[in-house]
Amino acid sequence: MIELKGRKLVLGVTGGIAAYKAAELVRLLGKAGADVHVVLTEGGARFVTAVTFQALSGNPVWTDLWDPRMGNNMAHIDLTRDADAILIAPATADVMAKLVHGLADDLLTTLCLARECPLLVAPAMNRQMWENPATQRNVGQLRGDGVAVLGPAAGEQACGEVGQGRMLEPEALCEALIDFFQPKLLAGRRIVMTAGPTFEAIDPVRGITNSSSGKMAYGLARACAQAGAEVTLVSGPVALPVPAGVQRISVRSALDMRDAVLRSLLGAEVFIGVAAVADYRPVQSADHKIKKTGSELSLTLTPNPDILAEVAGLPNPPFCVGFAAESRNLDEYAEGKRKAKRLPLVVGNLVQDGLGGDENLVVLYDDAGRHPLPRMPKPDVARSIVAHLAGLLCSRC
Ligand code: C5P
Repeated sequence: MIELKGRKLVLGVTGGIAAYKAAELVRLLGKAGADVHVVLTEGGARFVTAVTFQALSGNPVWTDLWDPRMGNNMAHIDLTRDADAILIAPATADVMAKLVHGLADDLLTTLCLARECPLLVAPAMNRQMWENPATQRNVGQLRGDGVAVLGPAAGEQACGEVGQGRMLEPEALCEALIDFFQPKLLAGRRIVMTAGPTFEAIDPVRGITNSSSGKMAYGLARACAQAGAEVTLVSGPVALPVPAGVQRISVRSALDMRDAVLRSLLGAEVFIGVAAVADYRPVQSADHKIKKTGSELSLTLTPNPDILAEVAGLPNPPFCVGFAAESRNLDEYAEGKRKAKRLPLVVGNLVQDGLGGDENLVVLYDDAGRHPLPRMPKPDVARSIVAHLAGLLCSRC
């Protein structure tokens, strides 16, 4: 996925042991499409050499305010002028203190002072250094100055102590940067979503379920969070990690899912039903494993509640979005569902290539008609749905 394509990033690497992870970060950022220019401080260069960063970024590495390679000798200005952001990872307590005071005694701090682009810092230091009131004051001041502070995480430290102060892992930093660049189209909105299949128990070891990977729902939850929404994801059993910035409530059956949704709806402006809820459940679930007998066994099934229809039918319902996965007659069935469940927006897709793939081809249905989207990777489909949803929400306010 090339989510940072076209972005020019200046990565400042300062003198902490986490500098070795900055090498992996450069590789990940490059893989995500970013053009990375590393600025190494004197301390940073004691941990990792410029050659490593040059090889990984494919760009010259900058260490010196007086670098003669810059024709006009204005490295501190030129490097940031067309940059989309400066990220300092790892950021020592020392560099943060300097940033707070506007000190500019090396190339990196001078670049930060002269920048026109956003600045993000990923602190990395011993837990006592992090907890020191001076550092905490500085972090507060940086936030107040509009600097994004990513982390730190807690855990084992290079010095052998355990606590807060570990730099976020390179994967998390790369994700945080991707998030940072997403337009905040849903800022301040609370969204409740359902995801995955439900599992309707027959006995303690057997059940009825639907085939659903949860990838579309999890991708959409992530896209909503990236767009600034507060997301609660009520999820049936899936093998997916919780997306960053999303609160997951794990459930098994349709009845559990319904209860969790109704409990979560307070203050929600949007409800998105993506789950492949089992339409039926066994009337009775046996307390013990049903034994094989060789004779026929009948299961009596009873319909499950339609969670989406129930939420859409509440007095003052949230803005309800439904999904319609159909094997034929998509327009007719999707629009039919929209009308029957009284939904302002339905996302329809033809299930031709089976479920669980990484791409999707969807059509959006709303009061204005039908809006087909091109075939795209699921994260891009999710972002397009978010943009359409944000537009509809805005037109209602
Ligand atoms: O199953 P159906 O095609 O009617 O699903 C359409 C939409 O309704 C989906 O968004 C699905 O998540 C939701 N739904 C639900 N509860 C059900 C069945 C479907 O919320 N019991």
